[in-house]
Amino acid sequence: DLPRFVKVVEVGPRDGLQNEKNIVPTSVKIELIHKLVASGLSVVEATSFVSPRWVPQLADAKDVLEGIQHAPDVRFPVLTPNLRGFEAAVAAGAKEVAVFASASESFSKSNINCTIEESLARYRDVTSAAKKHGIRIRGYVSCVVGCPVEGVVHPSKVAYVAKELYDMGCAEISLGDTIGVGTPGRVVPMLEAVMAVVPADKLAVHFHDTYGQALANILVSLQMGIGVVDSSVSGLGGCPYAKGATGNVATEDVVYMLHGLGIETNVDLGKLMDAGDYICKHLDRPSGSKTATALCRL
Ligand code: HMG
Ligand code: MG
Repeated sequence: DLPRFVKVVEVGPRDGLQNEKNIVPTSVKIELIHKLVASGLSVVEATSFVSPRWVPQLADAKDVLEGIQHAPDVRFPVLTPNLRGFEAAVAAGAKEVAVFASASESFSKSNINCTIEESLARYRDVTSAAKKHGIRIRGYVSCVVGCPVEGVVHPSKVAYVAKELYDMGCAEISLGDTIGVGTPGRVVPMLEAVMAVVPADKLAVHFHDTYGQALANILVSLQMGIGVVDSSVSGLGGCPYAKGATGNVATEDVVYMLHGLGIETNVDLGKLMDAGDYICKHLDRPSGSKTATALCRL
């Protein structure tokens, strides 16, 4: 049974632009976010309050968050790796934050420079501060099927980290195939293990499309009861600390598939393509969305 409605979480302004070689001007980021909202997306991950030495592309986090038009029915989560990032995000007006842990020890070290347990301890501080402020928290688990260093990641490791994030108060846990190596063959057992400890309606899936498996992985996830899908307009993105990984699955392709399945999203594909067109023109590169590319030729 497929869900009737799927919430699409747009991560392009964060996951996409964090991996661009050229720094995108703040005003372009803000305009992109506004165009994404205009397409009907209700969640747009806007930026990250991380170290500007680690991710210089998002050093303007404060200006982006303060510059966007906040609307009551649209959420703009931002990544926060520690209490310092959380406090800066709240000061800039964040109403929702996301913490990001890893199921693989090596990736935790290369991405946030600490062990999995150290990261969970930091995130307990962030989640308890967030509760005091009435801030919603999303939790990411990275490397849910594979790690650039360790290779295959066992489903029990993913389930462990997902449950820890859930227990500390994350309202939604997004399961990330950071390097896009998963196929349904590995995604299904991973989801079974996670769903044994976290309810399906608290889970989201986050597939990078390095091996072209993302739509297949999303379809099996929907069949297993997942109703929240992360994606990035025009397939922008990657992770600066996961070498060789390409962008997230393109939002246009996800929306096209969902609508083809008769699943509602509230997203207007034409307006979404306008947003994709805008950022691709700015970056001077072709769209990474097959749907956008095909529809542009018509
Ligand atoms: P560190 O070097 O271990 O920690 O970094 P530190 O406390 O020594 O701080 C280093 C510097 O950063 C210091 O400045 C701090 O003041 C500063 P310096 O003295 O060198 O000038 N600093 C901060 N600045 C701004 N905001 C902050 C902050 N914290 C410290 N919040 C740290 C540890 C976690 C900060 C660092 O490793 C970091 O920022 N990492 C972020 C990496 C990142 O953003 N990765 C991409 C996002 S995750 C992802 O893409 C995966 C996902 O999409 C899911 C998936 O696909 O699987 C979510
Ligand atoms: Mg990602």
